Amino acid sequence: MLKIDGLKKSFGDNRVLKGVSLEVDKGDVIVILGPSGSGKTTLLRCLDFLEYADEGKMEFDDINVNLNHISRKDIKKIRNKLTFVFQNYNLFANKTALENVTEGLIYGRKVPKQEAIEIGKQMLDKVGLSERYNYYPSQLSGGQQQRIGIARAMALKPDVILFDEPTSALDPELIGEVLSVMKKLAKEGTTMVVVTHEMNFAQDVANKIIFMDGGVVLEEGTPKEIFTCPKEERTKQFLKRILPEDDYVI
Ligand SMILES: Nc1ncnc2c1ncn2[C@@H]1O[C@H](COP(=O)(O)OP(=O)(O)O)[C@@H](O)[C@H]1O
Ligand SMILES: [Mg+2]
Repeated sequence: MLKIDGLKKSFGDNRVLKGVSLEVDKGDVIVILGPSGSGKTTLLRCLDFLEYADEGKMEFDDINVNLNHISRKDIKKIRNKLTFVFQNYNLFANKTALENVTEGLIYGRKVPKQEAIEIGKQMLDKVGLSERYNYYPSQLSGGQQQRIGIARAMALKPDVILFDEPTSALDPELIGEVLSVMKKLAKEGTTMVVVTHEMNFAQDVANKIIFMDGGVVLEEGTPKEIFTCPKEERTKQFLKRILPEDDYVI
């Protein structure tokens, strides 16, 4: 469905992505792991054109583009297929939960207002916020705010949802409610690419793990392969740091 080949991105002299290739099939839940600064956020941002890659190719269904030479029309087509869930939610503070979800439908996708409101309510119901349509972000917990972020991403009916550390800004007791919404989406067959340090989610929900370090994909495989017999020394060291001792089988 989505294929990236040789994606490169620098900020000045800082070569952040040094040729990343990635394949996403329909229904995949791909977890991207890697130390801070390895380029995970930049990779997701390049896929959604929040940053522009310097080089690389993208194939998305029948769209086939060169990332350093891409038309606005193709960017728009690709953006219609992808949505982003941000680490810090990125909600409009002066809009209600429902307005946050309907905004993109009404102004981005030109969906009639009444229809957008219906979709928005359905999506908020789905993430367990039926009682909170008219609350403002400041009246809601971080977990609730992030669930609005997820409802907003789903409302656009994307082919792929990109999650950038969706739970890392949350207090520990609020992480579970967001992960369980994500688990539900995965079970329904939503295609997801998730940067996270939540190893239980990675082990239980992902069908593919990608380990990034220093701007390249160092290793990829099933959760079983990566967690029980990582090939690369750097993957082993990363997992050793991040997994509770009891879970570490090597
Ligand atoms: N907008 C930017 N301008 C300059 N440097 C950036 C920008 N975004 C990210 N970087 C740099 O790119 C590198 C990778 O960052 P990032 O993609 O955020 O990594 P990760 O998400 O894996 O922690 C870091 O060295 C960071 O400082
Ligand atoms: Mg990041």
